[in-house]
Amino acid sequence: MGEERFLTPGEVQEDSTGKSLRPKTLNEYIGQPHIRKRLGISIEAAKVRGEALDHVLLAGPPGLGKTTMAHIIANELGASIYVTSGPVIEKQGDLAAILTGLERNDVIFIDEIHRLNRSVEEILYSAMEDYQLDIMIGKGPSARSIRLDLNPFTLVGATTRSGFIGAPLRNRFGMIMEMEFYSEADLKQIIQRSAGLLDTSITEEAALLLARRSRGTPRIANRLLRRVRDVVTIEGGHEITIDTVQSAMTLMSIDEDGLDAMDKKILTVLIENYHGGPAGLKAIAASVGIEPETISEVYEPFLLQTGFLVRTNRGRMVTDKAYRHLGRTEEGGSGLLWNFNTGNQDEV
Ligand SMILES: Nc1ncnc2c1ncn2[C@@H]1O[C@H](COP(=O)(O)OP(=O)(O)OP(=O)(O)O)[C@@H](O)[C@H]1O
Ligand SMILES: [Mg+2]
Repeated sequence: MGEERFLTPGEVQEDSTGKSLRPKTLNEYIGQPHIRKRLGISIEAAKVRGEALDHVLLAGPPGLGKTTMAHIIANELGASIYVTSGPVIEKQGDLAAILTGLERNDVIFIDEIHRLNRSVEEILYSAMEDYQLDIMIGKGPSARSIRLDLNPFTLVGATTRSGFIGAPLRNRFGMIMEMEFYSEADLKQIIQRSAGLLDTSITEEAALLLARRSRGTPRIANRLLRRVRDVVTIEGGHEITIDTVQSAMTLMSIDEDGLDAMDKKILTVLIENYHGGPAGLKAIAASVGIEPETISEVYEPFLLQTGFLVRTNRGRMVTDKAYRHLGRTEEGGSGLLWNFNTGNQDEV
């Protein structure tokens, strides 16, 4: 089974580039104040009672800190964490092997939990609810069901698509946390923290400028920081300034709103090939040359949130803001009608 790992308290996996920028405690975790507070209270309470923490579902676009939070939860509980992911657990027996191996109040982290297969998901229900597993062994007339008692445990699930999680599974999570894009102030703080960990100094204004271009996403903030740091190193500088940020951004084709070449390609395709839309996800993906899921999970959330794109029941459409941003003039209106009764923009 692929890449599952058991980590004891204190161990934290490293980023691909070596040095870990992952916060390890709730206090180090910047932003998402609401989630931090709720989790902090429930973790403390679980510890006082000596019980397993309620199951937690973390939902939100890539790079917002779901995996990081899963490790923090285990760390704060003083528990071990078993790491796996939806597509890796192929059979009921795979899940049974993991769950029966958990010690009292341990954490199992299932990433991409929306990709669990049906039969595995079904045995998860009683495991989550009653710490019991009912599994079938054998086939045909000799098949029988056996019941296994499990130690109390906490399931932390992460998903980029909470809409894909059916009610039976969703309802078994005691806490459902929808992560939000980070504010500029939070991203600035993340960048300053990461710069410190990377032994790099950065001016206040440069950190803010980088924050603005990070699409509300800590992973992108850290990635941009590393690239800007490369530029400073090559230029023999000692500090990241506005100038270094700007030249690095130009190098990476990232504009002042944080849009990269792919974002702009998506918007441009909609304008040029579909008169601004509406167009279906698959059609857009085919024109751009990437997978529909990559658009809907990676690019679209930010474009929707920043108002460059709207989603209607007939497909995706660019907005006036997108036309202006790309320096285009639109033909035939934006497709958004002002509703004088409600004062809202209706998607048509
Ligand atoms: N709140 C935060 N404070 C500081 N750094 C953070 C925070 N959240 C995330 N990061 C940084 O961003 C990186 C990406 O976070 P993480 O891998 O947890 O995201 P994710 O939501 O699990 O993404 P994916 O959906 O792609 O799995 C981490 O390496 C971490 O360094
Ligand atoms: Mg993750």
